[in-house]
Amino acid sequence: MSKNAILQIDGKSYELPILKGTENEVALDISSLRSATNGVITYDPGFKNTGSCKSAITFLDGEKGILRYRGYSIEDLAENSNFLEVAYLIIFGELPTKDQFEKFENDVKGQAILNEEMKNIINGFPRSAHPMGMLSSLTSALTAFNPSPVNVKSEADMYNAIVKILGKFQVLVAWVYAKNQGTPRNYADYNLDYVSNIMQMLFRIPIKKYTVNPIAAKALDKLLILHEDHEQNCSTSTVRIVGSSEAGLFASLSAGVSALWGRLHGGANQAVIEMLEQINKDGGDVEKYILKAKDPNDPFRLMGFGHRVYKNFDPRAKIIKAAADDVLAELHVKDPILKIARHLEEVALKDDYFVSRKLYPNVDFYSGIIYKALGIPSEMFTVMFALGRLPGWIAQWREMRLNVEPIGRPRQLYVGQTLRPYKTLNKR
Ligand code: SDX
Repeated sequence: MSKNAILQIDGKSYELPILKGTENEVALDISSLRSATNGVITYDPGFKNTGSCKSAITFLDGEKGILRYRGYSIEDLAENSNFLEVAYLIIFGELPTKDQFEKFENDVKGQAILNEEMKNIINGFPRSAHPMGMLSSLTSALTAFNPSPVNVKSEADMYNAIVKILGKFQVLVAWVYAKNQGTPRNYADYNLDYVSNIMQMLFRIPIKKYTVNPIAAKALDKLLILHEDHEQNCSTSTVRIVGSSEAGLFASLSAGVSALWGRLHGGANQAVIEMLEQINKDGGDVEKYILKAKDPNDPFRLMGFGHRVYKNFDPRAKIIKAAADDVLAELHVKDPILKIARHLEEVALKDDYFVSRKLYPNVDFYSGIIYKALGIPSEMFTVMFALGRLPGWIAQWREMRLNVEPIGRPRQLYVGQTLRPYKTLNKR
């Protein structure tokens, strides 16, 4: 492949360097385009064809349905690792040694406590507040209790900020759940691992002993691993661009939570369950909803289907779909919507509308069925997605700051009014 691409505009030629990644992906370097061409820019709504950065964290191949964190396949990690170990890998780039993991785990546990004044903020929310809105506000509020900005050049400072947010975010998730459910707020238990701790903080009620169900803990751990990072998705790009202005880590993460909330992104897992329950209420008539999804005049979309990058099965959906059966059987949960989900997938994947557009189930299609079986209400599904995605957001923010990337500031193609004189009132 040649080293440069040639761009021709008005008879003039411009050389654009061709870059190649470690997985042989090819990119045109347009970083000097505007200055070289005296103002020409590219136009790419939704950045469907635009790379915002070079990253060494996650590799996706949408055509082949491949997902790897730091070179390890998602299948390998979901089968053999655990959420906190994968978090270490994603953030620091290597799987931890036994000592490294022990220290990391203890440091995170040591941070799993919030300033008691956080309760005043939570008490200020109405009971009806959506958990994602509370989580975004509370993540930003952490800055109030940890005002000194992270010195990214200091490894120790960065490490302390990382274990702090990993420890505190799980408590925020649990206390948001308690507000949503009207249950007492629980504290972390230093003697439990990360995922068991989350479960006891979510579900323990003070009047009786709570025992973590190992099957449920394993299922939740696997779900969280599958959500840990996904290269430059909407919420991760948000975390990067907010952090590029040198806004703090907690403020950047809070912005990521808000971006994830949207139903086209992380909010889809809640929308999927609501859609499946609607179909169930409607007598299980999946064909009716397939027709609605295909109707260009109907705003209804098949939630949990389609993906900006995957034009093949989302590898995470495959793993979750396979786990759903086992988890529900082991937890003795019978849920008619699992059958509806399978039927919907089967009918859609035989329909040319979906096949021609390469619309397959994504990570959100089956995840809610497992969350529901674990006793998590649908309003909390996207909060669980955020809990899973936290390590990826941290890793991407850290990479962006360590690479000293410039502040994110896209250009535009102006299509508004050209210059015109002010019109006095009597002339309008
Ligand atoms: C996540 O980016 C990531 O990595 C995200 C994520 C992560 O881990 O961070 O993977 C998590 O956000 C998964 C996606 C969850 N969202 C949903 O399940 C919502 C339903 N899906 C769609 O809204 C849509 O598929 C998107 C938003 C996911 C992707 O949209 P694109 O890439 O902008 O595709 P598009 O809207 O241009 O669609 C192309 C065509 C259109 O039809 P035509 O105009 O060609 O006729 O496909 C159609 C769309 O109308 N289409 C759908 C559809 N998704 C796309 N039609 C019906 N149902 C759908 N779900």
